[in-house]
Amino acid sequence: MKINILGTATTKFGELWDTSPREMAKEAMSNALKASGLKPPQIDALFVGNMLSGILGNQTNLASLVAEELGAEGVPAFRIEGACASGGLAMHNAINSINSGKYKTVLVMGLEKMTDHSQDEITSALSAAGSDEERMSGLTFPGIYALMAKAYMQEYNVSEETLAAVSVKNHYHGSFNPKAQFQSPITIGDVMRSPKVADPLKLLDCSPVSDGASAVVITSDTTIKSKNPVTIIASEVVTDTLALYNRKSFTSLLAVVKASQKAYLDAGIKPTDVDVAEIHDCFSISEAIAVEDLGFSKRGEGAKDIADGKMTLFKGKIITNPSGGLKACGHPVGATGIKQIVEITEHLRGTAGKRQVKGAKIGLTHNVGGSGAVAAIHILKGALS
Ligand code: COA
Repeated sequence: MKINILGTATTKFGELWDTSPREMAKEAMSNALKASGLKPPQIDALFVGNMLSGILGNQTNLASLVAEELGAEGVPAFRIEGACASGGLAMHNAINSINSGKYKTVLVMGLEKMTDHSQDEITSALSAAGSDEERMSGLTFPGIYALMAKAYMQEYNVSEETLAAVSVKNHYHGSFNPKAQFQSPITIGDVMRSPKVADPLKLLDCSPVSDGASAVVITSDTTIKSKNPVTIIASEVVTDTLALYNRKSFTSLLAVVKASQKAYLDAGIKPTDVDVAEIHDCFSISEAIAVEDLGFSKRGEGAKDIADGKMTLFKGKIITNPSGGLKACGHPVGATGIKQIVEITEHLRGTAGKRQVKGAKIGLTHNVGGSGAVAAIHILKGALS
């Protein structure tokens, strides 16, 4: 069944102190509907990706709350949770619901409100995505990814400066994105001088704490015409162990390898056919490993390829994180997977403004939960291809 993306929208990402989750949801949904040329009653179902509303916001009935704001009376609504991959999982479930024949036109949104809370509360809430043993031994997510960074640097003889180049690229890309949390370029020196969070990761190796909401409308209804449709040609989700210490490797995420291989097969493409990708760079090390797991770089060469500019706007071959990624655009955890779809859709439509990847035809999104306990991969194709 052919499923097209109609309208997309995202709020600004960052510290939206004076905006409630309801208001963020309403803004993203109404703009996505407007862009689709649809009215709320035309939506058959609503899927909401969110991780922390129960823990931080004391609201566990989020799907119904968001449905009220959509204004489609009685619409079936579902909240999907898979840590930082909640958005990608919501997208996958929405696609499956259409493929099952149950619904035709579905609104998928990702929503997270994080910044109203203290750093301690946020770090503790995020650690709920890890294993009990990791949490009880005091490992937080920066700590877990720091272990991966140490292993990667040792295995492939990669310096902290080379890893820092991932953040430099993503802040450069964020400087072209008016919706990004951080829009100022940074240097390797800035990363190296920033405070240590979990050795070897420093403040500027980390994605920030963010608020934001993103929404997309997808449909299989052939009577709904779109001037510039984007088609979803693959959607795969794979899980792995919750705890890092139960894995064979610290320098590759098996869930990403498996999900992307399945997705390439479904889409009938090779990694080198991808023009633009949104990568889950929750830490600089994550993107270095991801571009290898996705087959964009050879093993051990991901960080070096990024540092050499091979994935940088206006000069690279496969452009990664033109939005600024999680690092510069921001990481409202449940919203990230949907923002990635919004960003790729814009590139495939040729509407990404100053950060447009020229001639982009095939795009990929890579959304990861925990330290790789779940991965959601989507591949999209533009009508221009
Ligand atoms: N990148 C760039 N700048 C950042 C930043 C980041 N990741 N985090 C904070 N800042 C900036 C703030 O804007 C602030 O700037 P200002 O002084 O100009 O206003 C300054 O640094 C200090 O901010 P603060 O909020 O006090 O930082 P913090 O030390 O409390 O938190 C981190 C920094 C890295 C610990 C926090 O961003 C974090 O926990 N990140 C990881 C989130 C995470 O684990 N997500 C899930 C991934 S699996």
